[in-house]
Amino acid sequence: MPKNPILFALLLFLAAAAAVAAKQDDFIYAGFSNGPNGGDDGSISLNGVAEIEDRGILRLTNETSRLIGRAFHSVPLQFRNATTGAALSFSTVFAFAIVPEYPKLGGHGFAFTIAPTKELPGALPSQYLGLMNASDVGNTTNHVFAVEFDTVQDFEFGDINDNHVGVDIDSLVSNKSASAAYFDGGIKNDLNLKGGHTIMVWIDYGGAEKILNVTISPLSSKPSTPLLSFGVDLSPILLDRMFVGFSSSTGLLASSHYLYGWSFKMNGVCRPLDLSSLPSLPQPGKKNIALPVATSVGAFVVLLAAIAVAAYLFYKIKNADVIEPWELTCGPHRFSYGELRRATKRFRDRELLGFGGFGKVYKGTLPGSGIEVAVKRVSHESKQGIREFAAEISSIGRLRHRNLVQLQGWCRRRGDLLLVYDYMPNGSLDKFLFCDEPHSSLTPRPLLSWPQRYRILRGVASALLYLHEEWEHVVIHRDVKASNVLLDADFNGRLGDFGLAKLHDHGANPGTTRVVGTLGYLAPELTRTGKATTSSDVFAFGAVMLEVVCGRRPIEPKALPEELVLVERVWERWTAGKWEDVVDRRLNGEYDREEAAMVIKLALWCSHPSAAARPKMRDVMRYLDGGDAEDVPPVPVLPKDYDAGKDNIGFDDFVHSYPTSSSEKASTFSITIGQGAVGSEYSPLSSRSRAGA
Ligand SMILES: *[C@@H]1O[C@H](CO)[C@@H](O)[C@H](O)[C@H]1NC(C)=O
Ligand SMILES: *[C@@H]1O[C@H](CO)[C@@H](O)[C@H](O)[C@H]1NC(C)=O
Ligand SMILES: *[C@@H]1O[C@H](CO)[C@@H](O)[C@H](O)[C@H]1NC(C)=O
Ligand SMILES: *[C@@H]1O[C@H](CO)[C@@H](O)[C@H](O)[C@H]1NC(C)=O
Ligand SMILES: *[C@@H]1O[C@H](CO)[C@@H](O)[C@H](O)[C@H]1NC(C)=O
Ligand SMILES: *[C@@H]1O[C@H](CO)[C@@H](O)[C@H](O)[C@H]1NC(C)=O
Repeated sequence: MPKNPILFALLLFLAAAAAVAAKQDDFIYAGFSNGPNGGDDGSISLNGVAEIEDRGILRLTNETSRLIGRAFHSVPLQFRNATTGAALSFSTVFAFAIVPEYPKLGGHGFAFTIAPTKELPGALPSQYLGLMNASDVGNTTNHVFAVEFDTVQDFEFGDINDNHVGVDIDSLVSNKSASAAYFDGGIKNDLNLKGGHTIMVWIDYGGAEKILNVTISPLSSKPSTPLLSFGVDLSPILLDRMFVGFSSSTGLLASSHYLYGWSFKMNGVCRPLDLSSLPSLPQPGKKNIALPVATSVGAFVVLLAAIAVAAYLFYKIKNADVIEPWELTCGPHRFSYGELRRATKRFRDRELLGFGGFGKVYKGTLPGSGIEVAVKRVSHESKQGIREFAAEISSIGRLRHRNLVQLQGWCRRRGDLLLVYDYMPNGSLDKFLFCDEPHSSLTPRPLLSWPQRYRILRGVASALLYLHEEWEHVVIHRDVKASNVLLDADFNGRLGDFGLAKLHDHGANPGTTRVVGTLGYLAPELTRTGKATTSSDVFAFGAVMLEVVCGRRPIEPKALPEELVLVERVWERWTAGKWEDVVDRRLNGEYDREEAAMVIKLALWCSHPSAAARPKMRDVMRYLDGGDAEDVPPVPVLPKDYDAGKDNIGFDDFVHSYPTSSSEKASTFSITIGQGAVGSEYSPLSSRSRAGA
């Protein structure tokens, strides 16, 4: 025992403090916290509109236009060997999510940045990502190195598309870029940067081999093949001491850019981030707790143990399932979080069935009964929103129809809502209809025969009829589309996600009304009034009918201009008396002509631009159940200027990045973006024009 235990403890403490200081070039943020000194203590330093939200999520920008948000590690790091001037190796991993204001239309992205200052004076938002301005783009005096995650295609910088990763050196014209994708077992899968789900990024620079690798993945394990591998000597670009962090901006279109965690190391391999523990980990203590100098080492150890026990108890209490009085009364089964965690093997990536509109969907097997279920993990920015929505589960859970995907139960835990549904072994209808789904390339699906298609349509129609007219309240689905139609083991169509679209009404910003739905399925009046009705569901069902007959999306990205909008094309062929042209060619003419003609005629009726002129689901059902096609009212005449695609988005929003301002060109271009917006996932469309739905 040393003579002076106090001095000994003090020495230990100083040694530990020195070790922390020396480790400045190896840091990890498993969730973020506001340092007590505004970041001067080696924690994160924010500028612009960047903020740290509840649960330790760093939000660089929100959905307001033309903002810059940045976050840098507050102390500069030595990026070059002071004697030789050679750039040193570094490695980093971080987890981010981009949640755009409009479905699949991001604005503008963010960049992992190494820069001489944290503030980057003079830099602009929008396409400049808060890194540079129009006059200094390309100037080598910038000393800015960035890896951009860009969600808008800017022609002036030669961007390849609106979903790419690029290496930028003193410029926003990327020296190398690639469409966002990841490798899984040697297979390249496309990845949507702005899908709202968490994406991991690894950036590794080898100072000796002078190679920069960028790897991305939606899963927490690092793919062995990088997305980008770029031979570059960073020595002339970097200065001796540089700041490292992130810069992000919004333009006319806006996204919220979130970071969940970040690990970095100079000259070595950074510590890994555990995706499953982000961002729900309780805040790591970044604060300098002024430790009292313990009178003995023993007391210090006891103190540590006490803190650990307290932290554990706090963690337990904070993570307890939330139970409200009404939750105990009625409604579907309430699962415990532990049960669902076991069922999904701790929400393992391998159990992931897909990314739905609201979050990830996992496959699970209930412990005990062995019943297979699909568990949807819904995350919502607003806890209040989840709370209000959860209150509706008791009524949604009582909906029962053989063509609805049955809600088995649910569980609520902090900001997450877990919904347990019947497992549908054949997945969603869109995967069978369209061959362009990036994730479906792994397992080719069989072609659906005409009788199967007809039965699916009848099933979905009867489910909608039940929701609209046969249940105790009118339930509006709000998001009828092929990817929400699931197929059970016998290929019966079952409508999923009913009621969920209402989630967007809860906790929404009172200044804006969220129109929920997916481009191409949105009734024209919906984008004007924001009010969902049974007629807007009927319109969407019309789009689904056309998809099933034609095997095509409502708005086709790769089609010729005259074939762009499916309903227009079908209408044109129908009036020309050549409707057979639009029937899915893969059927090889093997279909019931009478039924197909009936479905097309009904679909056009449902797609009527005027809500009042559309049929009710009861009428649709009657005809599908064997009514006579001759009885279907004559196909409506679409107004000449009717364009299902045009109603959905304010066109002016897209003109900004097109090189010419000719209105005709601009609108062609905006349709191009609009098409990109159509897909199986969706986010809310916000409409600034109207109040309450
Ligand atoms: C985004 O942040 C800015 C600045 O902090 C604020 O003025 C604006 O209201 C925010 N917008 C939204 C939609 O929260
Ligand atoms: C810098 O380079 C010198 C000479 O090559 C080498 O001895 C030294 O270890 C390097 N320092 C670092 C921090 O890599
Ligand atoms: C562009 O940024 C530089 C600093 O990088 C600044 O000196 C210059 O004034 C800015 N130019 C404009 C037009 O804002
Ligand atoms: C680059 O920037 C420096 C300092 O801001 C300026 O003096 C120089 O003229 C710029 N070079 C070009 C090619 O614009
Ligand atoms: C990056 O691209 C610019 C042109 O955009 C070029 O001048 C520069 O040399 C390139 N840098 C590297 C390292 O390839
Ligand atoms: C970059 O990726 C290539 C190919 O996978 C690999 O050979 C190389 O070691 C990687 N370099 C670094 C610095 O990670």
